[in-house]
Amino acid sequence: MNERDTLKINKQNHLEIGGVDCVFLAKKYGTPLYVYDKAYIENVCDAYQKTLNVEYGLGKISFASKSFCCKDILRTIKSKDLGVDVVSIGELKTALAVNFSPENIIFHGNNKSYKDLEFAIQNKVGLIVVDAYSELDDVNEIANRIGVIQNLLIRVNPGVEAHTHHYIQTANPDSKFGFSIGIEAINVIKKALDLKGLSLKGLHCHIGSQIFEEKSFEIATEKMIDFYALINNQLGVDFDILDLGGGFGIYYYDGDKKMNLSSYQNFIKKITTTLKNKIEQVKIKKPYLILEPGRSIVGEAGITLYTAGRIKEIKDLKNYIAIDGGMFENPRFALYQAKYSVVAAERMNNPATKTYTIAGKCCESGDIIAENVSLPEIKEGEILAVLSTGAYNYSMASNYNRNLVPAVVMVKDGLDYLAVKGQTYEDLLKNDL
Ligand SMILES: Cc1ncc(COP(=O)(O)O)c(C=O)c1O
Repeated sequence: MNERDTLKINKQNHLEIGGVDCVFLAKKYGTPLYVYDKAYIENVCDAYQKTLNVEYGLGKISFASKSFCCKDILRTIKSKDLGVDVVSIGELKTALAVNFSPENIIFHGNNKSYKDLEFAIQNKVGLIVVDAYSELDDVNEIANRIGVIQNLLIRVNPGVEAHTHHYIQTANPDSKFGFSIGIEAINVIKKALDLKGLSLKGLHCHIGSQIFEEKSFEIATEKMIDFYALINNQLGVDFDILDLGGGFGIYYYDGDKKMNLSSYQNFIKKITTTLKNKIEQVKIKKPYLILEPGRSIVGEAGITLYTAGRIKEIKDLKNYIAIDGGMFENPRFALYQAKYSVVAAERMNNPATKTYTIAGKCCESGDIIAENVSLPEIKEGEILAVLSTGAYNYSMASNYNRNLVPAVVMVKDGLDYLAVKGQTYEDLLKNDL
């Protein structure tokens, strides 16, 4: 269980989220079901922006919508006056659909097409983060044709090794993202400065995800500011903006650090303190700071409810509980062996007596949600909850095996509402000719 009071055990011995009984939710909406505590998300947003304001006074938190993107969450993000970052036209259209201010939208991606860029520029997105040399020419040409000057950041790679799973590290020198800090980045910066249709506002980096080591962010900050100073010396440019990306870790299982609001505030304090000291040391203009957390805003806010199905006990080897979900709505174990906590939502205080592997219903042996889970003896039909599924679950869902993407429900202060309808078989078949 996490430390932010999102989850409680009620008098019926059931799991409760945001004041609503999970067994009630499972019956009302069916399973599998994504459930989010909205108050939790709002609290994290407030804590982040407030800490940034107090500690640095110049900057914005921009929610990484890849972690969870639907209209409802973007309305919440907008109501908190945060920015949003998007990596596709689909995410961008979702933000525009809830009237997100385009100047608060940042458009990322390592392979934005000409059409993507044209759509973004036509819709006046605040910043495009360029990640390829030829992308500069496309942005320049489109901006000239439309008659605007497009504000840009360039994604660079400070080469910081973050302590996280290999596949979600993005700032190694061999990453598919960004230009390595040094001659490679200097060349692309020079080119950007020469083009009339764009205005280069600064640089962006993102060193990875699910990071608990504050030191990684401190080193990245220092490297970025050293590079800002070098650019200032060599090219006489003082950048206005510094975007340090996202990546703060969350609590998934008992091998992770427990996180709470003050842990996240602490991340920001460490970054801003390093930043202030470094600016002072190298004497450059104080840049507007953008941070792009995704996982830490929505991850622990979300849980997924399932109904236990067939139970397979292989004597002296393994006990499987098959659930009515799987890798189609949570592919993270299959992708990178992500770990989760699982609870028996109807019998929270009952002692654990068995060890289970929670398996999905897809035709893949790797379709597992969690291994070595201690639970009371589970019966078919019982409700199980997998915790901390708010980030990169709904957004990575697929129709593998022609399964349906489940509904998303929001809860707040004892009330629940449907935020995204579950797919129907009609939805599934409607594009097939
Ligand atoms: C450019 C960028 N910004 C922000 C994020 C969000 O990271 P996280 O969800 O770990 O906070 C990512 C995630 O991959 C990213 O690539």
